[in-house]
Amino acid sequence: AAPTRVPTSGTGVFSTGRAAIAARTLRTDRWWVPPAITVAGLAIFVGYATIRSFVRTAYWVPEYHYLTPFYSPCLSSSCVPGSSHFGHWFGALPSWIPLGFVVLPFLLGFRLTCYYYRKAYYRSVWFSPPACAVAEPHAKYTGETKLPLIIQNVHRYFFYAAFVVSIVNTYDAIMAFHGRDGGFGFGLGNIVLTVNVVLLWAYTLSCHSCRHIAGGRLKHFSAHPVRYWFWTQVSKLNTRHMALAWTTLGTLMLTDFYVMLVSSHTISDLRFVH
Ligand code: FES
Repeated sequence: AAPTRVPTSGTGVFSTGRAAIAARTLRTDRWWVPPAITVAGLAIFVGYATIRSFVRTAYWVPEYHYLTPFYSPCLSSSCVPGSSHFGHWFGALPSWIPLGFVVLPFLLGFRLTCYYYRKAYYRSVWFSPPACAVAEPHAKYTGETKLPLIIQNVHRYFFYAAFVVSIVNTYDAIMAFHGRDGGFGFGLGNIVLTVNVVLLWAYTLSCHSCRHIAGGRLKHFSAHPVRYWFWTQVSKLNTRHMALAWTTLGTLMLTDFYVMLVSSHTISDLRFVH
């Protein structure tokens, strides 16, 4: 039989109404592996994205017009010539401000408040709880009903911003079909940028808020055939939201890395049409 203890603090899993079990968990499997992998994956992305956002080097390939998504749109006069597809809205920026500063907070907010990422970091970073049948260390639980977590409810507005950013990334990817001597060009970089933008759209459109915007609060689907069709498509994508969340973290890093390698002349782009 499991060892027992007398409940003491009176809150959370230690409250008097809960079973008095002294062991931290009765699970004997390696329940800590999924949260450990999650925290490692998130840390790699946050570390890479932070460094790349601040370095201000190798983010634009002038010959082929490849722009990394981390610097898009580049709206300051500090951006290298050619990289500002939407003009200069701001003068020179001090080095501690990333050149992509206009959209980075929205993208960060979109991912931080995402229903999937919430599950991921509530478990793996906040241990609330780290796994099924493993008690959390926190004595109190208020969920998302109070500050600061009540702010998670603004996710829909971050979705709107992310939708606009996806349009900007699409424009960048189209502009990148650029030849060395002008006109049309096509290289491996175009495949990288296009795959990235398609997956970003898939992640953005598979968002739970997007699904609700498409078909939420409707009493009769039959009276709204267009919205019903969108809701059906978004629902299909939505089942893959977690996979898309991780895939796009990977493709964002890979895309940036590829642009960095070509821009710094570490490798040359494989060209199919010059
Ligand atoms: Fe994940 Fe909206 S982006 S739920």
